[in-house]
Amino acid sequence: MYFKRYRMEISLAGRSLAPSRVPDGYRFERWNPALLDAFAEAKYQSFRGAIDVNVFPCLGELDGCRRLMLEIARKPGFLPETTWLLTCGRSSKLPEYCGTVQGIRDASGLGAIQNLGIAPEHRNGGLGTILLFHALQGFRHAGISRVYLEVTAQNEGALRLYRRVGFVTVKTVYKTVEHVYS
Ligand SMILES: CC(C)(COP(=O)(O)OP(=O)(O)OC[C@H]1O[C@@H](n2cnc3c(N)ncnc32)[C@H](O)[C@@H]1OP(=O)(O)O)[C@@H](O)C(=O)NCCC(=O)NCCS
Repeated sequence: MYFKRYRMEISLAGRSLAPSRVPDGYRFERWNPALLDAFAEAKYQSFRGAIDVNVFPCLGELDGCRRLMLEIARKPGFLPETTWLLTCGRSSKLPEYCGTVQGIRDASGLGAIQNLGIAPEHRNGGLGTILLFHALQGFRHAGISRVYLEVTAQNEGALRLYRRVGFVTVKTVYKTVEHVYS
C-alpha cells in the first residue's frame, strides 16, 4: 500500500505574512524545552485519527509524538521561532492543547514545515491558517525565503489551506506503508 503525497513550496519574498486576529481565548506559545510534553500532547490530539497516522504511525501515539518532538528539537536545523503551541482555556485552569507546528532549516538552507496540526474540535475556524502564518513569520525571521512541506493527496482540508496561503505543488511522491490503520 502506498500514499500519494505532494511536496508543496512557497516563496516568502515580498509576501505579506500578517495573520488574522487570534480568536479570543486562544494563546500562542513559542517552543521552549520545558514545554516538550505540552507540544507532544498537542501533536497527539491533532493527529490521532488523521490520515497521516497511516504514513507516520508514531503520530497516533502520545509516546510516539513525544519522541518525534524530541527528535525534531534535536535536529541541527531546528528553528524554535517557527515552532508554536496553540492553547486555549482560562489561565487559572490547565490549558487545553489545541494545535502545534514545527519547522527546521534543511541541509540546503530551505525551510521545512513539520506536522501542522489542529485538534478536531478547534478545526475549520481559521486556526490552522493562523498557526501556519506564525511558522512562516518565524522562517522569515530566520532569514529563510523558501519553505516547503509534504501533504498526503487525500488530505483535502490541508491541501485547501496550503493552496489558499500560496503553496504550490512542485513534486508528487509516493510513500509506501505496511499497515493502514483506519
Ligand atoms: C489541516 C489542519 C491543520 C487545518 O486546520 P484548520 O484549523 O481546520 O484550518 P483552517 O480552518 O485555517 O482551514 C481549513 C480549510 O480546510 C477546509 N476543509 C476542511 N475539511 C475539508 C474537507 N473535508 N474537504 C475540503 N476542504 C476541507 C476548510 O473549508 C478550510 O478551507 P477554507 O478556509 O478555504 O474554506 C487540520 O485539519 C488538521 O490538523 N488535520 C489533521 C492533521 C493534518 O492532517 N495536518 C496536516 C499535515 S500536512
